[in-house]
Amino acid sequence: MTWPACGTKTAEPEPGPELLPRLGRDGSFSLYSCGVGEGFHNAAGALREAQEKFVAPAALERFAPGRQLVVAEMAVGTGTNTAALLAATAAAGLELDWWGLELDRRPLALALADAGFRAQWPAAVIGRLEGLAGGPRLQLGDARHRLPGLLDTQAGRCDLVLLDAFSPQRCPQLWSLEFLERLVRLLRPDGRLLTYSSAAAVRRSLLDLGLELRAIRPPADEPERWSAGTVASVIPFAPHPALRPLEPFELEHLASRAGLPYRDPSGNATAAEILERRRREQAHSPAPPGRRRPPEDPGGLGCSEGHR
Ligand SMILES: C[S@@+](CC[C@H](N)C(=O)[O-])C[C@H]1O[C@@H](n2cnc3c(N)ncnc32)[C@H](O)[C@@H]1O
Repeated sequence: MTWPACGTKTAEPEPGPELLPRLGRDGSFSLYSCGVGEGFHNAAGALREAQEKFVAPAALERFAPGRQLVVAEMAVGTGTNTAALLAATAAAGLELDWWGLELDRRPLALALADAGFRAQWPAAVIGRLEGLAGGPRLQLGDARHRLPGLLDTQAGRCDLVLLDAFSPQRCPQLWSLEFLERLVRLLRPDGRLLTYSSAAAVRRSLLDLGLELRAIRPPADEPERWSAGTVASVIPFAPHPALRPLEPFELEHLASRAGLPYRDPSGNATAAEILERRRREQAHSPAPPGRRRPPEDPGGLGCSEGHR
């Protein structure tokens, strides 16, 4: 995969911290944010991530053809997850009632302007994505401030909530206990919250909010990873090949200082303020320090906690 250096000029629809196009190993379009210092997807590629971490764990086979699926997507970015869901729901004969929150209009505009991205999808999917990009269902702004408005109309209605923000260490605003609590309120009783994150703080927050958790199994060709993400549900899970219960070492990790949640009671804190508050809470916590390395994971717990 090529990573152009920050400072390299690219066409951008409007000014802002640089977003550089890059390709994943699967050849799919992605972006790197120089402002955040993180990619939009992991090195395997945007398409593969969308399929493995969002579409497969959504278990669309649970829904009868003709059913309307209500989906709320946090951090829409390039729209890769949206397009993957549009394609998968169409193939399953499902209707999609989609809502998305996103801070920056540029990632989706850059994706839709990229011939490689457009070639990834059938024309009908690109047409739907273009319609969503210019319509009222894509709500631009800080998701923390947009979420109350979405809750006004969609609380308790969502079959799926997708959370694909930058990693908790870079963008803790969208992983705080308070933000997650509001996201959970979007869910129907049998709804699922899906995220690529396996971070202890995120899992612990979801458990404390009363949800059941499953780890997303990593793909067979990435044996160094112990988890590819997390799925949370209000009701118990039926067995699914993409999902597994949390292992004892993961549950032990949640009870450590690594499991202390990100806190943002005002909904207005900066990333630095949220991280500093958690650092202080960890320093004073009686909980044991987090394990650095689970059994049989050469990369350590950090390997699957953040990424990109
Ligand atoms: C990891 S990328 C999203 C990847 C995306 N799902 C995709 O397939 O391209 C994170 C996104 O979060 C957005 N973002 C950052 N802070 C945000 C905030 N406070 N509210 C809403 N979106 C935010 C960024 O603009 C970026 O598009």
